[in-house]
Amino acid sequence: MLRSASVIGTGSYAPKRVLTNSELERMVDTNDEWIVTRTGIRERRIADAGESTSDLAAAAAKAAIENAGITPEEIDLIIVATVTPDMFFPSTACFVQTKIGAKKAACFDVSAACSGFLFAMDIARQFIATGTHNTVLVIGADKLSTIVDWKDRNTCVLFGDGAGAAILRHRPGSRGILATHMGSDGSYADILYIPGGGCLHPVTPETTSEHSNTIKMNGRETYKQAVTSMLSAANISMAAAQLTSDDLKCIIPHQANLRIIEAIADRMEVPLERFLVNLDRYGNTSAAAVAIALDEANRTGRMHVGDTILLVVFGGGLTWASSVIEW
Ligand code: UT7
Repeated sequence: MLRSASVIGTGSYAPKRVLTNSELERMVDTNDEWIVTRTGIRERRIADAGESTSDLAAAAAKAAIENAGITPEEIDLIIVATVTPDMFFPSTACFVQTKIGAKKAACFDVSAACSGFLFAMDIARQFIATGTHNTVLVIGADKLSTIVDWKDRNTCVLFGDGAGAAILRHRPGSRGILATHMGSDGSYADILYIPGGGCLHPVTPETTSEHSNTIKMNGRETYKQAVTSMLSAANISMAAAQLTSDDLKCIIPHQANLRIIEAIADRMEVPLERFLVNLDRYGNTSAAAVAIALDEANRTGRMHVGDTILLVVFGGGLTWASSVIEW
C-alpha cells in the first residue's frame, strides 16, 4: 500500500540586497520600461559575496521547519535542487544538513535547472510513498548572480538569488500530491545553458575571459518552449488527477516572465488573478522561484486545507514538470 505525501510546511528566504531596474540601467544598455514591459520584473535580490547557496537554502529550511512545527531531527531526507551548488561536491544538501542540525537525514542534490524543485518534490513523494523515508525536506535554491554575465543585457536583467523549501510527510486523511509529471528534451540543451566550467570545458583563463562560465540563452526559443511545455505539463497532471482548471484554487507557475504566465492563463482560460505572480519582486530565481511562490501562497492564505493547487515549471535541459496537490 503506497502512502500519500503532503506538504506540511513551507519557508523561503531572499537576500536583503535589492537590485532595481534603474540600477541595471547604469550597468548595461537597458531601461526600466523595456524590462517591465517585456518581463514584468521590477527588482531582484542579490546575495552577499559571503552568502552561499547553502546559506540561502538553510534559511528557507529553518522557516519551513518552523512552519511545519517539527524539529530538524525528524527530517530523514534532504533534497536540494540547484544549479549553483556551493561546490561540485559535497552536495549542497550536506552543507544544509549541518547548518540546520538535521543529523539523521540522508542528503543529495538534484540538477534540473529551473524545474529542479518539482523534480525534487516528486522524488520525495516516491520515497514517502514506498515508506523508506518519512519526513523529507525539499529545497529549491540558487545564487544565479554568480553565473550571470553582468555585461549581457539579454540575460542579466532576468535573474535573482533566493531559496524556498517545503517539508513533505504522509498526513493521514489527506490525499496530498494527487498527480505529477516530469519531462525533458536534451536536444534543446543549447538554448539555455552554461557551456564552460564543467569537465568538457574546464575553468581556464581563456574560458573565464570568454564568459563561457555564465548563462547563455536564446530568449525567443526558450520563451516558445516554456509556454508549450508548461501548458502540456499542466494538462497532463490535471488529467491524471481527473480535474479541470475550474477545480484549481491557485496556480503557481515558474517565475520567468509575466508574458509567459499570461499566455498560459489565456490558453488555460483561467483568470490571471488565480496565478501566484511574484517575479516583479524577485525576477527568475531558477529552482527557488516556484518554491518561494509556494511559500508566499501558503503564508498569504491563497489556499486552505482541502483546496487543490497546481504547480508548473520549465527550465534548462530542457526540463519541465507539474504537480497537482490537495493542500
Ligand atoms: O527560467 C528558464 C526559462 N527562461 C525563460 O523562460 C526566458 C524566456 N524568454 C524571455 O522571457 C524573453 O525572450 C526575453 C525577456 C528574454 C526577451 O524578450 P523578447 O521579447 O523575446 O525580446 P528579444 O530577445 O526578441 O529582443 C528584442 C529586442 C532586441 O533588439 P533588436 O534586435 O530588436 O534591435 C534585443 O537586443 O530587445 C533587445 N533587448 C533589450 N533591450 C533593452 C534584449 N535585452 C534587452 C534589455 N534592454 N535588457
